[in-house]
Amino acid sequence: MQLTWLGHACVLLTGTKKVLIDPFIPEGSVAQTNPDLVLVTHGHYDHLGEAVALRKTTVATGEIAQYLQAKGVPVEGMNIGGTIILEGITITMTPALHSSRIDDTGMTGNPGAAAGFVVRMDGVSVYHAGDTALFSDMKLIGDLYHPDVALLPIGGRYTMGTREAMMAANFVGAKIVIPIHYNTWDRIAADPVAFKTAIERTTDLTVKILRPGESIEVAPAS
Ligand code: NI
Ligand code: MN
Repeated sequence: MQLTWLGHACVLLTGTKKVLIDPFIPEGSVAQTNPDLVLVTHGHYDHLGEAVALRKTTVATGEIAQYLQAKGVPVEGMNIGGTIILEGITITMTPALHSSRIDDTGMTGNPGAAAGFVVRMDGVSVYHAGDTALFSDMKLIGDLYHPDVALLPIGGRYTMGTREAMMAANFVGAKIVIPIHYNTWDRIAADPVAFKTAIERTTDLTVKILRPGESIEVAPAS
């Protein structure tokens, strides 16, 4: 499976199918990725992003799914703790310690909880934490779903910073850790090199710092 960080929290998984998580980048559009499935962790605009315009089957909480469906987007609603299989891809919605709001003037209802996802495709398991604080049940995500890759926010202010994300990486235990949700704006400035150095000095985990648009190949764990 190929994993591409498009920037901010937006990640494209390319294997048997193309799965796009949190379809927002600060400049330009993600429309050219032409995904089969879109996953949205929560309603904040820097995650919901282009979900309406993409009009692809979109996986989100029931509340966000209802909002998208009303705008003509095909949806698969689910909730935290649940697992669905779509087109051979296993998708589990995980908890996230965060808030949610749909930044759309027409939205007055409850946009539901914020979440993360574990996606298993072609034998590779990827955990996208969404926007979240550190929580110790990340250990359960490691124990239950054995992610090969953990995508963790490190930008602070709205989510974990590097200090908390180091512990998150240890809890999840994925061999490859990719920092996300940092340096998009000054308010979420973080040093990914210091994060990488600290983790790699104290664990056998590898931190891959990607540039926006950069991809890595992830093999199934043998
Ligand atoms: Ni958020
Ligand atoms: Mn965010």
